[in-house]
Amino acid sequence: MKRILSLFLIFVMAVVLTSCAGRKDSDPADDAPYKSPAPPVADASEPAPDSAEPHEPADSSTDETGTEAPSPGGSVLVVFFSATGTTRGVAEKIAALTGADLAEIVPVQPYTSEDLDYSDRTTRTSAEQNDPAARPQLVGDISLNGYSTIYLGYPIWWGQAPRILSSFVEGHDFTGMTVIPFCTSGSSDIGQSDDTLAAQACSGTWLQGRRFPGDVSEDLLMEWINETTDAYMEDTMHLYINGQEASVEWERNESVDALTALVSSGPLSVKMSPYGGFEQVGPLEASLPRNDAQTTTQAGDIVLYSGNQLVVFYGSNSWAYTRLGRITGKSAAELTELLGTGDVTITLALGITG
Ligand SMILES: Cc1cc2nc3c(=O)[nH]c(=O)nc-3n(C[C@H](O)[C@H](O)[C@H](O)COP(=O)(O)O)c2cc1C
Repeated sequence: MKRILSLFLIFVMAVVLTSCAGRKDSDPADDAPYKSPAPPVADASEPAPDSAEPHEPADSSTDETGTEAPSPGGSVLVVFFSATGTTRGVAEKIAALTGADLAEIVPVQPYTSEDLDYSDRTTRTSAEQNDPAARPQLVGDISLNGYSTIYLGYPIWWGQAPRILSSFVEGHDFTGMTVIPFCTSGSSDIGQSDDTLAAQACSGTWLQGRRFPGDVSEDLLMEWINETTDAYMEDTMHLYINGQEASVEWERNESVDALTALVSSGPLSVKMSPYGGFEQVGPLEASLPRNDAQTTTQAGDIVLYSGNQLVVFYGSNSWAYTRLGRITGKSAAELTELLGTGDVTITLALGITG
């Protein structure tokens, strides 16, 4: 049953991989002036935003769920922003179900009930949501050190994530982490809000997010948590250097899609040789779509050269390449040790092959 659910999810969920190059600038939500969606449709299960009380910041170190508090430094963190308590409730359930730590994004200037009155288009929230550059300040800092999975929750405001989420993601480095967005709303879906945050974060592996009603059951949340994990494991392309896995943040482009499709029929091993004292290069068995751009590479960068050569850098070079991804969690010295001493075999495979 779990397998069927996983397969279903693989079908409906696209793994969203961040790509700073090309995504941040091209995100329509960043460039285009904000277009107001139709007024939110009230959901009987949701508290009406205009009746909201000013937000009361919670102590994020407190285990409010009454369940066993996760150990500090645990690898899963649920970060949420909630103006009227709905997202907080869902975040607390996810934290309890995953044994995660919980941290709240608290605005320096709390949102008052007047601010949250979406029938008045002159309010602070309307002004912020209409201004793609608005970056409300957060109280303190939320440390992501030691976490490998971040659930990121927020309400939908005018079809988007509140701007304070942009402040949060732009202020943190998600390298090496998997970020799983979720939201609550009156009725709107998560829309492009998760993609926009992924592009603004410019780091981390972002999964497609999901919208939940405030009264979502723990069973449904648990199902989603399991499916998300399974889909990520099975749908992600893994890279092994001489059999040793290296974690990779893949770009989100047609070249990576084509490479993933190539690998979907079975693991692909590429015989690589060092070149120039800065890279390993080896032939792919097919040409991939290319979108070459002049690039100065860094240690860990994975690029496509000439449409059919896989290149992994342990040093730097400037040339016209198509970016495929980058190895995370390894220093330049470690990469030089791995890649700089002779031929290697790079294997690409979907799912965990051990
Ligand atoms: C300023 C504002 C704008 C909103 N815009 C939308 C919207 O576009 N679509 C929607 O379905 N709900 C919208 N809502 C409703 C909230 O998304 C919903 O009540 C949410 O669950 C509140 O979460 P919270 O209690 O964690 O703040 C809006 C609420 C506010 C305050």
